[in-house]
Amino acid sequence: MSEIVLSGRRLAKRFGPAVALAGVDVAIGRAEALAIMGPSGSGKSTLLHCLAGVMKPDSGEVHLLGQRIDTVRERERSALRRTKFGFVFQFGQLLPELPAEENVALPLMLGGTARARAVREAREWFGPLGLGGMEGRRPGELSGGQAQRVAIARALVTRPAVIFADEPTGALDQATGHEIMRILVEATKHNGASLVVVTHDPEVARWCDRVAEVRDGMILPGHAVGRDGMGLSRHVEGREGMGSSGHAGGREQGRTRVLPGFEGSDA
Ligand SMILES: Nc1ncnc2c1ncn2[C@@H]1O[C@H](COP(=O)(O)OP(=O)(O)O)[C@@H](O)[C@H]1O
Ligand SMILES: [Mg+2]
Repeated sequence: MSEIVLSGRRLAKRFGPAVALAGVDVAIGRAEALAIMGPSGSGKSTLLHCLAGVMKPDSGEVHLLGQRIDTVRERERSALRRTKFGFVFQFGQLLPELPAEENVALPLMLGGTARARAVREAREWFGPLGLGGMEGRRPGELSGGQAQRVAIARALVTRPAVIFADEPTGALDQATGHEIMRILVEATKHNGASLVVVTHDPEVARWCDRVAEVRDGMILPGHAVGRDGMGLSRHVEGREGMGSSGHAGGREQGRTRVLPGFEGSDA
């Protein structure tokens, strides 16, 4: 694996008698996309929340770029979340009263960027994400896929180190879900960010470099393996926009041509 950006060590968390995490070790490399899979109640969201500093584990450690982050005070953790992490949720969670460009600008404004400059920076994400012309639309005037693209722009606008996505395609039809995963993975990698995606959909997980299978608060041994180990490369390469030369290099090429691949779909 390339340089490790984020890691969890022996993470444990319980809610009363329910064991949500039973000692999880996980590491995410730079610009790597990791899928966390498993049935409902297996601990996926708890793992994501602990890694993202949203929740404190009962024990274990979380490290971001060499710094231990699970023990820092809430105020500092909240600043970390705002500057180093981006979030994409199942139901976009855009503010319905704000136009799309202001939804995207919001994390910058929360970080102290002046409104005009924040909106200007926000607008730069619309073209590359296939949202040209949608800047002024309110979330209610966007399709589900368009709203998730806005949510992806909002997650990336601060240029975070890690994007966390919890069931980002859960509210979309299958074709749109795949399109959103392609955009999420490509845009994240293009910006040098790492991606942690929680999903119960193997088709969604296939877009990622590695899959970690969670059961009863533990990662199944042998499941946090590379894409080649899972035999997923061929599958991914066949996808539109990901390169199609039929060997591992094809996807690398697809990655470098990433921006044009965003355009031309209104998913
Ligand atoms: N806030 C909470 N209060 C009580 N129990 C919780 C809470 N969050 C999660 N749990 C429990 O922890 C376990 C793991 O939950 P979760 O991480 O949400 O699983 P998943 O995301 O895989 O569906 C489940 O048994 C769930 O009921
Ligand atoms: Mg969950």
